[in-house]
Amino acid sequence: MSALLKDKVAVVTGAAQGIGEFIARAFCHEGASVFMGDRDACRLQATAQELMDQGYVVDSQSFDVTDRQHVKEAMAAAKERFGRIDVLVNNAGAYPRRHFLEMSDRDWDQMVDINLNGTFNCTRAVAPILVEQKQGAIINIGSVTFFLGMANLTHYVAAKGGVVGFTRSLARDLGSHNIRVNCISPGAVATESEKNFGTPEEIAAAVLPLQSLKRRIVPADIARVAVFLASDLAAGMTGQTLNVDGGWVMY
Ligand SMILES: NC(=O)c1ccc[n+]([C@@H]2O[C@H](COP(=O)([O-])OP(=O)(O)OC[C@H]3O[C@@H](n4cnc5c(N)ncnc54)[C@H](O)[C@@H]3O)[C@@H](O)[C@H]2O)c1
Repeated sequence: MSALLKDKVAVVTGAAQGIGEFIARAFCHEGASVFMGDRDACRLQATAQELMDQGYVVDSQSFDVTDRQHVKEAMAAAKERFGRIDVLVNNAGAYPRRHFLEMSDRDWDQMVDINLNGTFNCTRAVAPILVEQKQGAIINIGSVTFFLGMANLTHYVAAKGGVVGFTRSLARDLGSHNIRVNCISPGAVATESEKNFGTPEEIAAAVLPLQSLKRRIVPADIARVAVFLASDLAAGMTGQTLNVDGGWVMY
C-alpha cells in the first residue's frame, strides 16, 4: 500500500463494478477509507466484501443516485460512519444506445436523470459537509463522447456535456471554500457494459485506429487519474476536464 490518500475518506458512486469499482480499489490501495454506493445491491455487497477481505477500510450502501432523499441519507450515513468526507467521485452512469428518432421521452429523461441529475444530487448532499470542513475534492466522470458527438447517444452525450459545464461552474462556486472540482472524461474503456457496442474484438477494431496509443484503455487507467485528482498532487487544479482516452480527443 502506498499513501497518496492516507487519512482521506472518499465516497464513490457506481462502485459495484467497472470504472467505479477500480476507483474504489485504487483509493483503498492509496490508504483512503471508501464508502461505496451503487443501485445494484448484490454486486455492491460482493465487491465491498472482497475489499474488506483484503484488509481495506470500506463500507457500502445501496442507493440510486436519482433518488434525492435516499442520496441524502446515504451521504449522511457515510459521514456518520467515517466522521468526515474528503472526496466525492460521481461515477454512477449508464449509456444504453438509442437512435434519436426512436427515443422516447422516458429514454431521454432517464439518461439525464442518471448521468446529470445524479451528479447534482450527490454533490448537493456532500457539498455542505466539504464546506464545513473547509476542504474537499469532487471528481465527476464525463465522457469524451461530449467532445466528439456520438450517434445513438444524444441523451447520454447531452447529459455528459452538462457534467463538464457543471464541473467548471461548480469549481467557481466552491473554490473560495478550498474545494476542488474536476472531471475525468474516459474514452472507450474496456468494461462489461461495452457489450452494448459490440464484441471486444469489434470495439478494438473500431477504436484503436482512432486512438494514438494502440491499446485498449482499461478501468485502472481511469482510476489512477482519479487518485491523482483526489490527492494533494492536484492541489492547484480545479475546473478541469482530463481526457483519459489513449490520445483520441485532443483539445
Ligand atoms: N466504459 C466506458 O467506455 C466509458 C466511457 C466514458 C464514460 N464512462 C462513464 O464512466 C462511468 C462508469 O462506467 P462503466 O463503464 O464502469 O459502467 P458500468 O455499467 O460497468 O458501471 C456503472 C455502475 O453504475 C451503477 N449505476 C448505474 N446507474 C445507477 C444509479 N442510478 N444509481 C446508482 N448506481 C448506478 C451500475 O449499477 C454499475 O455498477 C459512467 O459514468 C460512464 O458513463 C464510461
